[in-house]
Amino acid sequence: MMLEHLTDHIMDIAMNSVRAGGRNIFIDVVSKKEGNLLCLTITDDGMGMTEDVARAAKDPFFSTKEKKAIGLGIPLLQGAAEMCGGDFSLESAPGKGTTVRAAFALDHPDLPPLGNLKETILLLCVTNPEVHFVFRYQDDGKEFLFDTNEIHGLLDGVPINHPEVIDFLERYLGEHL
Ligand SMILES: Nc1ncnc2c1ncn2[C@@H]1O[C@H](COP(=O)(O)OP(=O)(O)OP(=O)(O)O)[C@@H](O)[C@H]1O
Ligand SMILES: [Mg+2]
Repeated sequence: MMLEHLTDHIMDIAMNSVRAGGRNIFIDVVSKKEGNLLCLTITDDGMGMTEDVARAAKDPFFSTKEKKAIGLGIPLLQGAAEMCGGDFSLESAPGKGTTVRAAFALDHPDLPPLGNLKETILLLCVTNPEVHFVFRYQDDGKEFLFDTNEIHGLLDGVPINHPEVIDFLERYLGEHL
């Protein structure tokens, strides 16, 4: 089983970070033709995992979500990366946070398409207005950096999920992604 888009993985792993109480979540997407690499890194300062939980998290039958016996987010990303000539790592420390990193061979025929980064980032930011997100996208020479703290600075108290702000962000992100 594979998720259709890389953005589906980003959404799942970032929502793990939100559920873990992360207040600062960094999402990094780097695509480099030279080096044949596509790298996703998601870092949070949430509750983190003990070594046992971090090991168990790679098991599809482990979840701490209530009334849920399977947790597929991490195993699916690990499986996809390994299937696409890449690798996966999960580093976590209780009380400190978690970093999930997945690398893919950019030219692998099974590499899922990136998907809609703009909508994914927008959805994460507006549905979790209390979270500080930093999103970095590097595609060969180009780099785009989006930091919700900068947006808050411009908004002067208007919530990031205000309909007019969402419209603005949609246009702004659309110009860059
Ligand atoms: N960033 C994180 N910080 C702390 N714990 C985490 C983090 N990510 C995952 N976990 C733990 O690992 C478990 C497995 O995560 P995974 O994404 O595989 O499944 P899930 O989120 O429980 O369910 P699903 O992703 O299928 O909806 C989680 O239930 C949680 O206990
Ligand atoms: Mg999950």
